[in-house]
Amino acid sequence: MERSWTADRLREAYLSFFASKGHVVISGASLIPENDPTVLFTTAGMHPLVPYLLGEPHPAGKRLTNVQKCVRTGDIESVGDTAHLTFFEMLGNWSLGDYFKQEAIEWSYEFLTSSRYLGLSPDQLHVTVFAGEPGIPCDAEAARIWRSLGIPDDRIYWLPREDNWWGPAGQTGPCGPDTEMFIDTGKTACSPRCGPGCHCGKFVEIWNDVFMQYNKTLDGAYEPLRQHNVDTGMGVERTLAMLQGVSSVFETELFKPLMDRIRELTTAVPADPNQAERAARIIADHMRSAVFILGDPKGAVKPGNVGANYVLRRLIRRAVRYARMLGFPFGFGLKLVEVILPIYRKPYPELEENRVRIVEELNAEEERFEKTLAEGQKELSKLLATLQAHQQTVLPGRKAFQMYDTYGFPLEFTEEICAEQGIRVDRAGFEEAFRKHQEISKQGGQSFKGGLADHSEAVTRLHTATHLLHKALQIVLGSHVQQKGSNITPERLRFDFSHPEKLTPEQLAAVEQIVNDAIKRDLPVRCETMTLEEAKARGATALFNAKYGEQVKVYSVGDFSAEVCGGPHAGRTGELGRFRIMKEESSSAGVRRIRAVLEPSDDRTLTER
Ligand code: ALA
Repeated sequence: MERSWTADRLREAYLSFFASKGHVVISGASLIPENDPTVLFTTAGMHPLVPYLLGEPHPAGKRLTNVQKCVRTGDIESVGDTAHLTFFEMLGNWSLGDYFKQEAIEWSYEFLTSSRYLGLSPDQLHVTVFAGEPGIPCDAEAARIWRSLGIPDDRIYWLPREDNWWGPAGQTGPCGPDTEMFIDTGKTACSPRCGPGCHCGKFVEIWNDVFMQYNKTLDGAYEPLRQHNVDTGMGVERTLAMLQGVSSVFETELFKPLMDRIRELTTAVPADPNQAERAARIIADHMRSAVFILGDPKGAVKPGNVGANYVLRRLIRRAVRYARMLGFPFGFGLKLVEVILPIYRKPYPELEENRVRIVEELNAEEERFEKTLAEGQKELSKLLATLQAHQQTVLPGRKAFQMYDTYGFPLEFTEEICAEQGIRVDRAGFEEAFRKHQEISKQGGQSFKGGLADHSEAVTRLHTATHLLHKALQIVLGSHVQQKGSNITPERLRFDFSHPEKLTPEQLAAVEQIVNDAIKRDLPVRCETMTLEEAKARGATALFNAKYGEQVKVYSVGDFSAEVCGGPHAGRTGELGRFRIMKEESSSAGVRRIRAVLEPSDDRTLTER
């Protein structure tokens, strides 16, 4: 059957296929991770599901499927080619200790090749499997299953860990070999050794089935995991490009109107057409990511110098730099937002709802950057000329820091401009200068890969304390208080909430007192599963990520509070110790931020025990 593929049809086809295999369709999560100090953004569909991959029961069961918004900037340098993006949508299906390799691979094959679904020719399909290494055997089972489906040995490639292993992103956690599916685009091979894993563009990876069968322990060992999970991810944009037979993701309907608008705005065409195309793609990609980050329902990330805020700043500023190269007018953000929002009106209505914030933040950041961009480029050219005059090839780290501090040039920027002149930046020197001058969050410099949450006990206790704090704030300040963001490290909790003004010392003391009273009462923490409507009818606070009719987990703390939440939590409030607010400050307009810690309880001094 002849089909014309659209993103809407692809998402629908995927979800309905897995629903027909007993999967429950769940909502995608926010782009901003909840209670996870190890990553800045949601990087894969598995990320919000980590507690369940570690063994917590999921309220919707053991077979799940969804579409997840993801941001990854690890490959930012590759953006501009045909397939790399910093924001993308991932289709996923999960088995939480239910089916394993046989079904996962069979269903992948069926979805790809069945004429009722993608209808690809099996001849186009090339797959990779894990080659094994000392201590971990090769994935002979995955290869056997592919063979049984008719994939011949010369289209099954055995690749090492760098290619065919997923997780853990943190130090420890579930992980395992994967099998990846590639489509041969029909382009000429770049060399006789060309194959999946080669980056020439002949083979495009569209799907990854991960078999989470190991747990990496602190001492670096891989022990078999009790619960065998399947975690898969199929990129919407890439798959769509392939189905539509176009040569890059930028030609699909998800980008076409945006690329057209970028061409209309271009007044300075670089002599090299490849450079012009690359610049246009970078602007399109980065602005789309910025729009999704700013349009996230949590509204917790805005351009700044630390962590996720810094990533957003880098994306916007890099887009601005390329926009200047192409001669865009000032305030071009609005012109691009106008074409991005309609593309996503149906699947992501939150973008339209947050239009004002998106446009305001983009304009404000462009303006801030504009003030120093020209001056900064002049300064950097001078520095580079001096280096070249002295036949030096490295820009000292403190100079790169000066570019950052005085002119707002993200390090990657300075690196990119230097690289164009064959000069390297002393990254370590930059980082040292950065550390000296700023109090930075540990996360700021981290690159992010897929993330596994830190489930240490300290984090779990602080998570329960966050629920108590939320409720206490509502009691003291009023029911308008709503969570706007939460971030927990093993040392402290950070909680953003809506409230128009600074809290008085009396209010802060009252909040602390209420939380500590709830702790002293040693209330049990209970988890129940119900529909979102039932949860709301019971008065549970429900934030994001659920749609009507969906099964959710409600954690209640005695009779004190109830929230829709994924967990995990402490068993009883008595385990928490003493709650102390360290700081209360403004986070953004109408949003306050509290940092708090748990200290060993006064009641449990050694003498009393
Ligand atoms: N978590 C796997 C990936 O992102 C499916 O590739």
